[in-house]
Amino acid sequence: MRILFLNGPNLNLLGTRQPEVYGRLTLADLEAMIRRRAEAAEVIVEFRQSNHEGQLVDWLHEARGQFAAVVLNAGAYTHTSVALRDAITAIEIPVIEIHLSNVHAREEFRHQSMIAPVCRGQITGFGAVSYFLGLEAAVLLVEGTP
Ligand code: DQA
Repeated sequence: MRILFLNGPNLNLLGTRQPEVYGRLTLADLEAMIRRRAEAAEVIVEFRQSNHEGQLVDWLHEARGQFAAVVLNAGAYTHTSVALRDAITAIEIPVIEIHLSNVHAREEFRHQSMIAPVCRGQITGFGAVSYFLGLEAAVLLVEGTP
């Protein structure tokens, strides 16, 4: 099983970006942790990050036929992007929305997710654990359990 982790704008700065909100792990740290967990479950994961909306749209399109599910931290595009929403709708594979911070406990503009209605579900506020839960959700959804 192949799972694609997509990371949106500013997530390349994890580790130094507002560590009180996003923690001190870098994206590379997160990737290494998820990769170890996935290997134990015989799941192949691919991690990508872009600051560009169109690149994320392209990767969602490419996921079709290549990955069983997508775990998506769309960063700020979560709150604004009709293009990402349309891409998620178009690809017809499960997309799981994740966030490190609890977007519902933050500024009001973060309470609205443009992509939530077309994702299978939303995991928010667990820090690095959100990535593990995203992996778990993806595997269970693809396996059809329970
Ligand atoms: C985020 C939450 C978003 O509101 C924010 O714009 C981010 C990161 C998170 O992981 O908590 O860039 O997606």
